[in-house]
Formats: sequence, structure tokens, C-alpha cells
Amino acid sequence: MRTPLLAANWKMNMGRQAAHDLVNGLLKETSEVKDREMAICPPFHLLADVEKLVAGHPHVYLGAQDLHWEDSGAYTGEVSAPMLLDVGCQMVIIGHSERRAMFGETDETCSKKVAAAISHKLIPILCVGESLEEREAGKTADVVTTQLRGALTGQQIEKGSQIVIAYEPIWAIGTGRTATPEMANETMQILRKTLEEIFSAEIAQEVRLLYGGSVKPTNIAEFMACSDIDGALVGGASLKVDSFAKIVQY
Ligand code: PGA
Repeated sequence: MRTPLLAANWKMNMGRQAAHDLVNGLLKETSEVKDREMAICPPFHLLADVEKLVAGHPHVYLGAQDLHWEDSGAYTGEVSAPMLLDVGCQMVIIGHSERRAMFGETDETCSKKVAAAISHKLIPILCVGESLEEREAGKTADVVTTQLRGALTGQQIEKGSQIVIAYEPIWAIGTGRTATPEMANETMQILRKTLEEIFSAEIAQEVRLLYGGSVKPTNIAEFMACSDIDGALVGGASLKVDSFAKIVQY
């Protein structure tokens, strides 16, 4: 059984007071929810604050939005896996399409980051997804399986719970446009089959696959009803107590 995971990607948003109010509000609104997990991924400067707020809530993970693959050294501006552990992180987003498009992230850098995360017992949330042109050219399966293989081939894991995959069609991120649940589930099945080929059937069945791209309180239930969708990675709608609490309570 895969426990549903609703992950909030705050991106480059929020200050300390707003983060405090949002996390406290969310914990209050979702205090009755027991059968699913949440992840909160704030920008680096808020990790220590959010860690204090979620301490004592074992169903809420703290996640970062990126990391560097080396443990330490002359890498100005970067943050490493041991640093994320030091501040209480359990998860880290890797290869978000915004980082691939704007900051030169490649399958090769994703692979190094996933390896660093796994070796430090951080759970990577590896993001994959196709552009609109790629979807329209019928290349979705090709693109996402290449991204998945590029980042995961050769990684050493024993259980599917050590990684999370987020499928986010780029054309659905922040646009208000979503993939249909059928479209998303079809891609998830392709990803799960690829995980089976990379790892094993057992591991592939354990890995949680999240859908991302304009997830809202009004569409979360139909995604969660799909056989191979185990949660969501939520951007815009994760910045307000009301909308993210409703998504968690789908
Ligand atoms: P969105 O972002 O929910 O604002 O579309 C999702 C994401 O980029 O992770």
C-alpha cells in the first residue's frame, strides 16, 4: 500500500511570518488527517523555522527544493545534503522543470544529486515532465522515460520508499491547464514500468508517483482516484492554508 503524499513546493515565495502563519494554519486544519502524509518544501532560508513548526508531526516531512551533490567545498551559493540533514530535512526536490529550464539542470546533474540524497538518507522527489511541443509531437513517453533513466540508472536503493517521482507536464505548471487524469495516469504507468526495468517489480510498486501542474482543491480528487497516482506536488495552491488544507483533505 502506498501512503498518499501531498507535497507543497513554495518555490521562491514566503517570508518568516507568512511561513509561520501558513504552517500553523495547515497543521490545525489537517490535524484529523491520519491516513496520508504531507511534505513542505520552503526556500532554504525558511527550513530552520519550518522544522521547528512541524517537529512532533511525524506525518509531515520537511523538504528542500534543491541540493548540491558534493558534501562541502568551494561552491558559492550551494547547499549540500549534510547541510539539509543538519536543518532537519527528510526530502529534497530534484530536477524541477524550472531548474532544468532556467538553471541548466540536466539528467546528469540530477543523477549526481539523487545519488547524494540517497547516500545521506534524504528522499529525493525527482521531477520529470514534457513540454507542450514534445506532447504534441507524441514524444511524452520518450522524454519522461529518458529523464527517469538518466537520473536513476545505477542508483542503489533497497526499497521504493527511498525515492518519490513527480510527473509534472511543463505546460501544466502554473498555467491553470492540467493534464486530464487519464493522461496523467497513462504516463504514470509508463513511469512505473520503467522503474520496474531500472530496479525491480517490487520496488516499482512501492515508489510513490506524484502528479504536479495546476493541482487545486477542485481537481485533486480526480487525480487521486487514478490507479497509479499516489499524491501531488503543488505550487501555487500550496501557498494558502485554505487551498492546501483542502487538497490534503481531498
Ligand atoms: P503549480 O506548480 O501547482 O503552481 O502548477 C507545481 C510545481 O511546479 O511543482
